[in-house]
Amino acid sequence: KEHCIFGENNIKDYPLAGKNKNIVKYHHENWDRSGFFGLKEDEIPLLAQIIGLADFVDNVYHFEKERKKEIKDFIISNKGKRFSPQIAEAFLKVASHQKFWLDLKNEFIWIALKSHAVPNIKQLTWKEIFSITKVFVSIIDSKSRFTGRHSSGLIEKTKIACDFYNFDETTTQKMLIAASLHDLGKLAVSSDILEKPAKLNAAEINVMKAHTYYTKIALSQIEHFDEIKNWSANHHEKLNGNGYPEGLAADRLCFNSRLLACLDIFQALTENRPYRKGMKFEDAFAIMKKLAKQNDIDAEIVNGFIPQLKNIAF
Ligand SMILES: [Fe+2]
Ligand SMILES: [Fe+2]
Ligand SMILES: [Fe+2]
Repeated sequence: KEHCIFGENNIKDYPLAGKNKNIVKYHHENWDRSGFFGLKEDEIPLLAQIIGLADFVDNVYHFEKERKKEIKDFIISNKGKRFSPQIAEAFLKVASHQKFWLDLKNEFIWIALKSHAVPNIKQLTWKEIFSITKVFVSIIDSKSRFTGRHSSGLIEKTKIACDFYNFDETTTQKMLIAASLHDLGKLAVSSDILEKPAKLNAAEINVMKAHTYYTKIALSQIEHFDEIKNWSANHHEKLNGNGYPEGLAADRLCFNSRLLACLDIFQALTENRPYRKGMKFEDAFAIMKKLAKQNDIDAEIVNGFIPQLKNIAF
C-alpha cells in the first residue's frame, strides 16, 4: 500500500501528468474490492485498472518463455474478480494476435512503444525538465535506504557550485538535471546488491559499477541531452584514466564532468549512512586532496571550490 501512496505523491507536481489523479495510488485496486484501499468496480479510475492489469502481465511475462498460457489463464480466471471484465476481455482480444507478443520482445519493444506513444509536441524549458527529473530523484534515492538523500544532496551542492563558477542560467539548469540523473542507472541494479549489508564480491562490484553505463544509455535516448549525458554519466571516470566504465582520461573529461565527479565524492563522504555517520568537512576535504594528488580528480576544483562547502549543513 505504501508504494502506491509514495508513487502518487511523487508525481503530484509532475508537469506532464495532466488532470489524471490517483492513477498510481489505485493501481493495485481490484474489481471485487479486495485491493489495498477497498475500492471496487468503477470507483477505480479506468487508467489505474489498465495499469493494474498491465503490471500483472509484466510481472509474469518472460522475454524468452513468454508464459502466454499462464498469463491468459490467470486473466480468464480473474475476470470480474481482480480485473474488470471489460478490460480483461480487451486484453484477451489483443493478446490473441501474434503481433502483441512480438511487440513485447526485447528487440521490438522500443519501436512498438514509439509507434503507440502520442507525439508530445509540448516544448519544455530546461527548468521544467529539471522539475520532471525530481520525480526520478526520489525514486533513485528511495531505491536504496543506504543512500536515501544522495541525489538530492548532490543537487544542492551542484547549485552552490554553479553559482560559484557564475554559470549562466541554461548551464545551471542543465547541471542540475545532470546531478539529478547521475545515478539513474542504479534503477537497473538489483536491490539485493544496492542494499547488501555486507561487502560486495567482485561480480557484484561489476554489476554496481555498470550503473553509470546505464545512465549514459538512458540519457543518450533523449534529444538535446548530449552534454547532460556526459556530465552526468562520467562521474566515476578519473583524470588518470583509472575510472569506469570507459576509462576516459583528462583529455576526454570536460570541466563540468570533473565538477560533478568531485561533488559526487564530497556528497558520498559527508552524507550519513545507516551504518556510519557522514564525515566532517575537514576529513572529507583531506581525502579529496589525496585523490587530487593521485590525479583521480581535478585539483583546481578540489582546492578552488570544495572549501566553499565548509560551512553548509549536510
Ligand atoms: Fe505496484
Ligand atoms: Fe554513481
Ligand atoms: Fe552518486
